[in-house]
Amino acid sequence: MRIDILTLFPNMFEGFLTESIIKRAINDGLVEINIIDFRKFSHLKHNQVDDTPYGGGAGMVLMCEPVVEAIESVKDEDSLVILTTPQGEKYTEGKAMDLKKYKHLIIVCGHYEGYDERILNFVDLELSIGDYILTGGEIPAMAITDSVVRLIDGVITKESYEEETFSNNLLDYPTYTKPATFRGLSVPDVLISGNHEKIKEYRLNEQIKKTKLKRPDLWEAYNENQKSEK
Ligand SMILES: C[S@@+](CC[C@H](N)C(=O)[O-])C[C@H]1O[C@@H](n2cnc3c(N)ncnc32)[C@H](O)[C@@H]1O
Repeated sequence: MRIDILTLFPNMFEGFLTESIIKRAINDGLVEINIIDFRKFSHLKHNQVDDTPYGGGAGMVLMCEPVVEAIESVKDEDSLVILTTPQGEKYTEGKAMDLKKYKHLIIVCGHYEGYDERILNFVDLELSIGDYILTGGEIPAMAITDSVVRLIDGVITKESYEEETFSNNLLDYPTYTKPATFRGLSVPDVLISGNHEKIKEYRLNEQIKKTKLKRPDLWEAYNENQKSEK
């Protein structure tokens, strides 16, 4: 898979691309990630890429020309162009699974007040990472990239993501590691019993308990799924 991220602030991605699992995925050739600076596509003095909004109002607006030309410089028949925006479809693990199927993602980061609305004619999908406003699309672009890359075959074990929160509408089960007792708090006996059947049963019960308590919406979806599978 290739992911091209279009941004006004390429330096924000330095740590993201050079640490941990993302770094390893790049080094192992499982994903190619390019950071592309809109300013390279400016035709104006001082590489200007934004201007004041028509009709007045606060802040600066990203111009069509550099953004659309940046998209066109990398786009081909395999590309899906994503715009990060708080006005987009809410991003979920399910969406990450969909995005994983594409060969090429182009992620456009807005900044300042936003972007010229005509840019929407050149994108396939608008994604929001939640109902709050960030200063720019860089953190959303990292969130989307990170969640998709970890699903690419070979990046982490399939078992790691197949059993985790959201994979079957249940929250993940609780996990523990050494020491077996910390400040009087002990690991549940069943986990050190060596009885794999009992451990499986315990974990599923814990998943159900947690989901009912913390995410009744997921619990409902889980039950709906169980009914339709029957
Ligand atoms: C300050 S925001 C602009 C908000 C815009 N004026 C509005 O009210 O819809 C600047 C940029 O940050 C990004 N952004 C901010 N919050 C976001 C969110 N929750 N999800 C995705 N992108 C977001 C988008 O790229 C957006 O264009």
